[in-house]
Order: sequence, then structure tokens, then C-alpha cells
Amino acid sequence: MNNTVVIGSQWGDEGKAKITDLLASKADLVIRYQGGCNAGHTVVVDGVTYKFHMIPSGILYRNTVCFIGAGTVIHPESFENEVNEFKALGVDFKNLKISPLATITMPYHIEIDGANEQCSGKNKIGTTKKGIGPTYTDKMARISLKIQDLYSYEALEQKLDRILFVKNKELEKVYGVDVYTKDCLMSLCERYAELFKPYVCFDWQELLNNYKNKTILFEGAQGVMLDVDYGTYPYVTSSNPIGGGASVGSGYGPTMIDKVIGVAKAYVTRVGDGPFVTELTDDVGDKIRNIGREFGVTTGRPRRCGWFDAVTMKYAVLVGGITSVALTKIDVLDEFEEVKICVAYKDCRNDNVYKSYPTDVFIHKYLEPIYETHQGWKTSLSGIKNYNDLPVNAKKYIKRLEKLIQAPVEIISVGPDREQTIFVK
Ligand code: IMP
Repeated sequence: MNNTVVIGSQWGDEGKAKITDLLASKADLVIRYQGGCNAGHTVVVDGVTYKFHMIPSGILYRNTVCFIGAGTVIHPESFENEVNEFKALGVDFKNLKISPLATITMPYHIEIDGANEQCSGKNKIGTTKKGIGPTYTDKMARISLKIQDLYSYEALEQKLDRILFVKNKELEKVYGVDVYTKDCLMSLCERYAELFKPYVCFDWQELLNNYKNKTILFEGAQGVMLDVDYGTYPYVTSSNPIGGGASVGSGYGPTMIDKVIGVAKAYVTRVGDGPFVTELTDDVGDKIRNIGREFGVTTGRPRRCGWFDAVTMKYAVLVGGITSVALTKIDVLDEFEEVKICVAYKDCRNDNVYKSYPTDVFIHKYLEPIYETHQGWKTSLSGIKNYNDLPVNAKKYIKRLEKLIQAPVEIISVGPDREQTIFVK
């Protein structure tokens, strides 16, 4: 077996797309296992730009089967748009399969997400407003619709009665917005049933059994620090982007996983609100943002930028089950005289030093990063193909990161193209 999970190790947007795209070329089956259309990444192939949200990146390879697993949430209209955009670019969807157990994001989930963000003022999460939290909430509350329900009149009838009873009260009393009628939801579901029909894989057990001895790539979305259990809660998404999420959301158990590649930028970015100890709100942060073109694919929001945080990364290696790291966008630091790594946090109230990640995020506003400063390499890395050809200072920086985070760097990305990748032997 050579089955790999690719996860983000920071707050998402680490450049997973390029790494999954590279690995998807060798995979027989690619599985997206958590999250929804809150994810966003771009893959450029032969000058054509593909913007992904929900569809596994393996779809660009003709012979790779792509499976959207039970742990995901799917917003039908966004899915439809994504499929149509890709079809217009000539992408073939014969190999796309969707688990009947995936959960549907309904229009009211989006309304609730937006309303919650709007009325939370300074306590907002800074979500993508794609209805992710409210959909997962309903899944756990056992009042969500799964794709398979769209094809069972009996299940739909029964479920909609219960859903309308709970949701309409919430929509009317809590949010003061229009309620839904059963007819309205029924006709929406009829439309959704047609939309998903070509892709729903009712024999998914057979599919997964058939691929047991082949190469499987599990494609994570978001990042460890956005994990609902291990991230900077409550400033997180509502799923499990850690490596373990692949076992829950794909339909394969943990014994099917050989390795977990944690993708990390050579610096850190974050969109949305929440703690970020190494955030740079000065010219250095602006410089990283501009050189790294750090603006969200899904929302267009400028990303907050900061130096590499070895405290959160070491934590991500642990809870994410990361066996090796893909270090991306290191070329963004080419022009810097000095590069910094955060090796610990200091609590400015009492000088306490944290070498391990403190999970109580409400103290993070009192934490200051303790940095190690390294000489920059002041050389363009973008054309380098071999590890040995990297400048000495870049190698020192990478070696130091490996030591601090306790995981080897296996892949180094020095630019957006597939060729701009160094595989460390
Ligand atoms: P939600 O997933 O839309 O509920 O948003 C919750 C938090 O996760 C917010 O801080 C979002 O900005 C963040 N988030 C969700 N998806 C992504 C992603 O794909 N990349 C980066 N941040 C994300």
C-alpha cells in the first residue's frame, strides 16, 4: 500500500492543491473527506486555471477516480457552478463519485451562517459564510439531509417534517427571517436529486473494496489549526482536517493509511478571525502578503501573514499524525535579509514561557512570540530543482524547522508550477 493523506498543517491555504495535484497523478483513487465549498484552491495546468472548491483535484487526470466522501457537506448550487465551470474548460466528469452519505447544505444553512456572523459583532468567527457550521450542526443534531434521502420519498417526507418543525422555529424566532414550506423544500430536493444523479455512488462499498490494493490519496481541506476539536476553537471550521479525519470521512478505516503529509508554508497565513501569535501587522507582513499574493480564493479576503510558528507546527505534527512535511512558498522569503522562526511563546502578564501549544486560545492575546532570527538567502529559489543546490542559509532554515517540529521535510515547493518542486531524498 502507498496510501497518503495530504492535510494542511496551519490555518488552511498552505498550498495543498499543488501537492495533491502532484500526488494525484500517481493515485488510482482520490478521496475528499471533509469540509465543503469553504475550501478554495487554484491549479494551473498548461496555462489554464482551475478553481476548486468541492471537487477533488484528481478530476484533471483522466484515469483517476474521485470520490467525495461521507464526511463532506455539499452545497448543491455551488457544486453545480463548479461542475459547469469545469465542463466549460473541457473537464470530463465520468470518474466523479459522491457518497450517498454526504450531507447537503440547504439554503437556510447559508442564511443562518450569514446572520450569525452579522449579529456576532466583534465576536464573529469570520467564516466563509458558505453554511458550513450550520450544516455540520444539523448533522450532529440528526436533522440533516443526506444525498441518499433525495432518492427516497419516504425518508424525505419523514425527515422534512422534523426538519421544518425545528428549523422554522429557529429561523422565525431567532433570526426573524422567512420560514420554509414543505412544498418549497420538496421541489428543491427534486432539483437536487436530478443534479446529483449522474454522480451518486450507491455501490460505494464495492468501489472502496475494489481500490483496497491500489493507490489512494486522501485530500484534506482547511488545516489542523482549524480543526473543530484541536484547532483554535471557536475560531475553527466545523470538521476534522487532521489526518484522522480521513478515516472517518472517507469510508476507509485508519489501517488503510500509510503516511500523512502535512503541508506548511515557510511562513504562516490565516483568514478569518481568531488568535495568530506570529501575525505581522507591519510592513513585513504586507511584504509577505504582496510577494505571496495572499488573498483568499473563496472570499477574496486579504490573508493575515506572519513568521513560521514552530509551536503550532509541532502541535500539528502530533495531532495531525503528520509523518512528513511539504514546505511550500519558501521562495516568497527570497528577498528577506532575515527570516524568523517562532520557537516558543511568552505570556506578557507573568513571563511564563510556552514551548508547547497552549490550547486555551483566550490567553493568546497575552502571548508574544519568542523568535530565532536566521540570515536570509537573498537568492531566487524558483529555478532550483535539487535539494543540494539550495543556498546554505535556506538549507539551514529548513534543517532548523525539521528539528523544531520533529518531522522531516520531504517536499519543498519553490513556485506554483508542477516543475518547481524539490523532492528531498
Ligand atoms: P467556515 O469553515 O466557513 O465555517 O469558517 C470557519 C473558519 O475557517 C474561518 O476562519 C474561515 O476563514 C476558515 N476557513 C474555512 N475554510 C478555509 C480554507 O479553505 N482556507 C482557509 N481558511 C478557511
